[in-house]
Amino acid sequence: MADMYTKQQIILHWIVVVLIASQYLFKHEIAAAWATIRSGEDFSFHPLILLHVVGGSLILIFMIWRLVLRGLHGVPAAPNNDQFLLTIISRIVHGAFYVVIILMSLSGLAAWFGDVIFAAQVHNVLKVVLLALIALHVLAVPFHHFVLKDRIMKRMVFHSD
Ligand code: HEM
Ligand code: HEM
Repeated sequence: MADMYTKQQIILHWIVVVLIASQYLFKHEIAAAWATIRSGEDFSFHPLILLHVVGGSLILIFMIWRLVLRGLHGVPAAPNNDQFLLTIISRIVHGAFYVVIILMSLSGLAAWFGDVIFAAQVHNVLKVVLLALIALHVLAVPFHHFVLKDRIMKRMVFHSD
């Protein structure tokens, strides 16, 4: 088990945060293009459509990269390793992030490039699930800070190499 996250793990965490935020902020153009395609018409190109496609694909690559790093380097033990329930919850949320984000990218790609309507429906359900995970994850930060007093943020800022 690692003592700290590595520099690469930390940089990738924050890059993915920014990319995911941009997927939610700039979703309108691709959603409108998708609706146009479904109504049987041609959509007109917009750079934000490209941003969603490229951003979502980069997220997929970075998440797989992070999984490889977890395999090679591991992740530090939960800060309150003695608190069984909290450790389990954090493992579930972190694991669910990988599953949901990878499925989100794959379903988007299948919808856009494969014209799979079911994939777009999955994409639309997962966007809510992912938001719920993010809310839980972000709310954990003040909980750790004020209740558990373990200064968790340091773990995603200071690195081991
Ligand atoms: C983790 C990565 C991704 C996230 C967080 C994400 C997020 C979103 C969100 C929030 C919407 C708006 C849905 C709505 O309210 O109408 C959307 C729509 C869409 N995204 Fe993504 N997306 C991701 C990756 C991708 C990728 C890689 C593609 C493929 C090129 C893609 C293709 C689409 C399409 C076609 C729509 C329109 C679907 C519809 O409106 O039913 N997405 N995405
Ligand atoms: C799109 C939003 C986010 C996603 C998908 C995400 C995902 C993750 C994942 C998967 C981990 C586990 C470590 C790893 O595998 O690299 C993690 C850890 C962490 N994240 Fe995030 N994160 C997000 C946003 C944030 C934000 C906004 C904050 C701070 C306010 C934050 C703070 C942390 C901290 C402090 C850890 C370390 C927790 C620990 O060591 O147990 N994350 N995040």
